[in-house]
Amino acid sequence: MPVKPSNKLAVIGDPVAHSLSPVMQNAALNDLGLPANFKKVHVLKGELKNFLQAKAGELRGFNITLPHKENMLPLLDYVVPQAKLIGAVNTVLRHDRKWIGFNTDGAGYLAALQEDKNFNPHGLQIVILGAGGACRAIAVALGLAGARRIVIANRTQVRAKTLCFKLKKSLKKVQFSYSGLSGIAFERALSNADLLINTTSVGLEKSSFTDFPWQHLNSEALVSDIVYNPIITPFLKEARIRRHAIHTGEGMLVHQGALSLEIWTGLKPNIELMRKALLRKLKK
Ligand code: ATR
Repeated sequence: MPVKPSNKLAVIGDPVAHSLSPVMQNAALNDLGLPANFKKVHVLKGELKNFLQAKAGELRGFNITLPHKENMLPLLDYVVPQAKLIGAVNTVLRHDRKWIGFNTDGAGYLAALQEDKNFNPHGLQIVILGAGGACRAIAVALGLAGARRIVIANRTQVRAKTLCFKLKKSLKKVQFSYSGLSGIAFERALSNADLLINTTSVGLEKSSFTDFPWQHLNSEALVSDIVYNPIITPFLKEARIRRHAIHTGEGMLVHQGALSLEIWTGLKPNIELMRKALLRKLKK
């Protein structure tokens, strides 16, 4: 249903000042001929319930950034199955006097892979570095898209193990396993990988992995990073030197935003225009 002129959209978080969503969303709304009215709203942890009550008649919907993605879920009237599996919501729609929760992070990552790199994970083997919320969203989306095997590799192995067991219960057709960031199990996973994804915060502030066993990675593997600042992270730089195809992190941000906008408006936004608006802001 198209956004009416009075409908307002927002991103909430704590902090929220850093959010790049308004830049992309307002560019897309303008382009669709809808009034650009996407704002940042600073909401503290204890204020989520009050926020929902206060904004019930005002907002068409909103995005959620850290640290509220998990805490918002139980406060909503209905949550779609994929968001329930992920255990977090990043998009909320007001519909029929109800708040409905979605998660476009995983689907956004998948769309970026498919549309930016023409990569379909069906039947393939994937190694995900990290075991946080981003890893979970991506693992669920890849599992639902038919990935054959997903190895979750994390510095703190017990976190990878816990996540792996949770995912196994709900995505029975996928072979899930876990490892640390070194050792034989990790090396074997790398040698069979069609796709290697970094979902850790390594790469932010130009940090990099120490002693990453690149020599074991399948030479045909696509290497993907969800860190988008810098666009070419040290991890992607190293992958490129080793002649791997690479997939940069801004794609996930753009596609998750585009899917959110589609939920709120029923319209498909111009992805490349959103990407340009984002990259312009990142270069500043
Ligand atoms: P998010 O929810 O955004 O995915 P998170 O829950 O804070 O983020 O998790 C961050 C991830 O980055 C974790 O998997 C973390 O590993 P640990 O579980 O061992 O803490 C990973 N990470 C952060 N710094 C790292 C580093 N220097 N080397 C390897 N992994 C790192």
